[in-house]
Amino acid sequence: MDTAATTDNVVTVEYVGDVALICIDNPPVNATGYPVRAGLDAALKEITAGGTAKAIGLYCAGRTFVAGADIREFGKPPREPILPAVLNSIEQNPTPVIAVIHGTALGGGFELALSSHARVAIEGARVGLPEVLLGILPGAGGTQRLPRLTDIPWALEVILSGRQVSAAEALEKGAIDRITTGTPRDVAIAAAQEVIAGTLPTRRTCDLQVTPDDQVLEDAAAMLKAKQPHLFSPLKCVEAVAASTGPLDAGLKFERQAFFDCIETPQRSGLIHAFFGERAVSNIPEAKGPTRPLESIGVIGGGTMGSGIATALLTAGYAVTLVEVAQDGLDRGVATITKNLDGAVSRGKMSAQKRDAALSKLLPTLKMDDLAPVDMVIEAVFEEMAVKKEIFTKLDTICKPGAILASNTSYLDVNEIAAATARPQDVIGLHFFSPAHIMRLLEIVVADKTAADVTATGFLLAKKLKKVGVRAGVCDGFIGNRILAHYRLVADYMVLDGASPEQIDHALEDFGFAMGPYKVGDLAGLDIGWATRKRKAATRDPEQRYAGTIADRICEQGWFGRKTGKGYYLYDTGAPVPNPGALRIIDDVRKEEGSLEHPFTDADIVDRYMTAMIVEATRVVEDGTARRPVDVDMVFLFGYGFPRFRGGPLHYADTIGAKTLIERIEHYAQEDDYYWQVPALLRKMAADGTTFADLNKES
Ligand code: 3HC
Repeated sequence: MDTAATTDNVVTVEYVGDVALICIDNPPVNATGYPVRAGLDAALKEITAGGTAKAIGLYCAGRTFVAGADIREFGKPPREPILPAVLNSIEQNPTPVIAVIHGTALGGGFELALSSHARVAIEGARVGLPEVLLGILPGAGGTQRLPRLTDIPWALEVILSGRQVSAAEALEKGAIDRITTGTPRDVAIAAAQEVIAGTLPTRRTCDLQVTPDDQVLEDAAAMLKAKQPHLFSPLKCVEAVAASTGPLDAGLKFERQAFFDCIETPQRSGLIHAFFGERAVSNIPEAKGPTRPLESIGVIGGGTMGSGIATALLTAGYAVTLVEVAQDGLDRGVATITKNLDGAVSRGKMSAQKRDAALSKLLPTLKMDDLAPVDMVIEAVFEEMAVKKEIFTKLDTICKPGAILASNTSYLDVNEIAAATARPQDVIGLHFFSPAHIMRLLEIVVADKTAADVTATGFLLAKKLKKVGVRAGVCDGFIGNRILAHYRLVADYMVLDGASPEQIDHALEDFGFAMGPYKVGDLAGLDIGWATRKRKAATRDPEQRYAGTIADRICEQGWFGRKTGKGYYLYDTGAPVPNPGALRIIDDVRKEEGSLEHPFTDADIVDRYMTAMIVEATRVVEDGTARRPVDVDMVFLFGYGFPRFRGGPLHYADTIGAKTLIERIEHYAQEDDYYWQVPALLRKMAADGTTFADLNKES
């Protein structure tokens, strides 16, 4: 898909009687990069010049019809012929063009079909305009032609959701004309012959009129302003669809300008980084080697994590042996799993039949020995090294040779856990995120002695569970929790120094986080952090400024957040309001510690918080805990609610630049030079002008 690639053989023309066939063959997904656009243009000209064809069947080779424009070309200077021009000439072509859709006709691919004179889908095909998910809008007529073929409410919903629509739904709405079976080439020949015979009607989409629907457009704009206030492209989609009620030329012109406005935004760059990042994390040699057999999996622990993991495994079709130590715990685990699966059924994500099939593969047991035949065990008991070591020592005696022994630890040393067995090569960390059947991140923690096929099986499992598996090295907290532990401190420092929890939450929600850190703390339970601080008290470096006094005192009142109705906020009156008791504690602690209170703007808060996150993320890349910056970015997008449109902490760091980041850190270090230290990698990047994006390319 190189833009400099030749056009040879990417688009070919063939004649079958008085039917001309155009075939696009541009693996992997037939994206409309330059060779396809130029090839289509040349093919149309050639067929018109030949003058013998009475109908043109347009189809694709390989796994799918065109799945969109070539995303890699965005941000580069456009190269003629541009897609909208090619599609206009298809629409105006004197010989009718029939698009034959198999696989997924998405974005520019669906737009190609919409500009054709008839659309025939092969069973199982899906169509859609997912551009909004990439921070752009359909830029080759989608916002103008889809409402013409269907109506404004449906077209707008499809464009704003970016969802893939089944062929049946598209047929019902008039977006396609027929569903059939056969190979794309055979269907293209048959459909073109029917057009010639007059049994498959054709029309030009540009000749159709759109019925105005101002109310739907106004409601959509109001909904977006309330629910997606950060995003630029959805509102542009609404404006472009509004323009579809006028003449096509003017609408296309409006759409084109809106498309370029979106292309210029950092959101487009962040969302496209997220698209490729999601695929890049498993595009590493360790993920691709031979794997071990994986059909049955044991889960130890029926608590929230264990039940969530078991739910995810059952949903993916694995047989699961769930082990608990006591009957009531086991019953609770089974009840949670059943509730999780019922929830999937009621949300329409799973059929009742599939739920029953999944539950029939669950074997609840109180006997560890029942794990003897399984291919993998995932231990999900509480975070206590002694308990985990005891379990792994037992597993070593119970499990069959070659079984993978995984720990769902979130912080602990996987090397130490592995050393409790005589088979450390079979041990790996699989860190799920709660709720494990919903959150998409899986940190695959590779210990010193983990065998290559065990790591590859971890990636295979992530894929089967439709999760984003990211390789992490062993350290306290791996990638995500290690970085979190560092930047979370800075929020507490800011509260000690004059910002309120509410202001911090507000500033970070405005930046794009779904919830600020104090609301998250109240939701998760403040007692969890309290227990960790107590556990680590003995090993805390006395040189480091202690950030936990306020939280400790809040917990001493029995205020653990939502579950007790009080935390940083009060929850008894619906929407959370700041807890005056917590504010009093904050005031007292500031006075006792003699903190030099000063005002913070929202921008100061975001800068400090993000800089702290970037500092530790840089160290995680520097010491190899994460292979590449993109791995850190995906951990944060899929596990920590980082705003997707910002691409991830290190993609965002590139928008600031290493030099500015160093200036900030050195400025903050004047207040606290223990916490604020410049990572060596950042200094190197500032000196040689490299970016995190460059580091992604190098590895
Ligand atoms: N441009 C460039 N590369 C693309 C691409 C595109 N539009 N779509 C997919 N690819 C690449 C992927 O990066 C991947 O590359 P890799 O093998 O090197 O990692 C390869 O194609 C296969 O993709 P997937 O791994 O995602 O394969 P799946 O079978 O799981 O999914 C798919 C196929 C449903 C087509 C999915 O790739 C997808 O959703 N692609 C994006 C579709 C899209 O967003 N289209 C709109 C583009 S914007 C546009 O058209 C603008 C227009 O309006 C002007």
